[in-house]
Amino acid sequence: MKDAAHLIRLAAVFAAGFIAFLLIRQALVPAGFGKYGHFRAGALDDIRARKVSFAGREQCAICHDDRVKELHAGKHAGVGCEACHEAQAKHAQLDDPSTGKPVLPDTKVLCARCHEKNNAKPRGFPQVATAEHSGGEPCKSCHNPHSPKL
Ligand code: HEC
Ligand code: HEC
Ligand code: HEC
Ligand code: HEC
Repeated sequence: MKDAAHLIRLAAVFAAGFIAFLLIRQALVPAGFGKYGHFRAGALDDIRARKVSFAGREQCAICHDDRVKELHAGKHAGVGCEACHEAQAKHAQLDDPSTGKPVLPDTKVLCARCHEKNNAKPRGFPQVATAEHSGGEPCKSCHNPHSPKL
């Protein structure tokens, strides 16, 4: 055992490395991690604390029943109100819908977002080369956005 000093030094280096690992781990792993498994427990409260921004179409129906009926009768039945009108939780409050009155979408931009021709889209999905199809006119001059079939 005359060369044991080498082994002791090596062991000391490993021990120091392990302690450094434990310290760094303690500093980096957030509080509450592991309480429910491989997950940070506080994340649930963080998510719950976020403000709701989408109201959902049932909420719109309370005041815009006519629009909901119109939408359901046409080809856009599967498209949510807020897919076109953006998140409207602020406007859809029952006590004061005049706060945050929605800005009406520009159909030239909005409709192209889903219907611009693109070979990557499913073949059955209705799509047009908007520049040729509309000649620069807003889509709403020929299509009703809520019930677009002519
Ligand atoms: C509590 C009733 C209420 C609810 C719920 C409600 N709205 Fe409205 N909405 C109104 C009223 C009232 C107006 C008219 C506001 C005005 O002219 O000042 C309006 C106007 C609008 C307009 C037209 C704005 C304009 O410039 O003409 C849009 C678009 C709209 N709402 C979309 C929605 C959507 C989408 C939802 C569901 C997420 C919704 N609303 C939920 C009452 C409501
Ligand atoms: C495919 C997109 C689209 C969907 C889905 C949609 N809207 Fe609209 N909506 C529009 C556009 C575009 C206008 C603006 C039309 C204009 O400029 O005259 C509009 C206008 C409105 C207006 C203003 C009054 C009017 O009729 O012009 C209201 C209110 C409204 N939408 C409510 C709704 C509600 C409620 C829903 C869900 C049931 C809904 N919209 C779904 C695109 C959409
Ligand atoms: C969020 C995506 C989305 C937006 C935005 C959107 N659409 Fe659509 N559109 C759809 C879907 C989904 C269908 C149904 C397709 C189907 O039946 O397979 C559809 C169907 C249609 C059809 C019916 C085609 C046919 O087969 O008869 C027309 C026309 C149309 N949209 C025009 C418009 C116009 C005009 C606008 C703008 C006001 C618009 N769309 C905005 C998703 C959208
Ligand atoms: C000048 C009138 C006019 C304007 C503006 C217009 N369209 Fe059309 N659109 C039509 C007519 C007419 C048809 C039906 C005939 C056809 O299938 O070609 C149609 C059909 C469609 C279809 C269904 C195509 C299919 O394969 O079933 C879509 C999607 C569509 N339009 C989207 C749009 C979009 C998006 C805009 C705005 C960029 C727009 N349209 C502007 C007249 C118009």
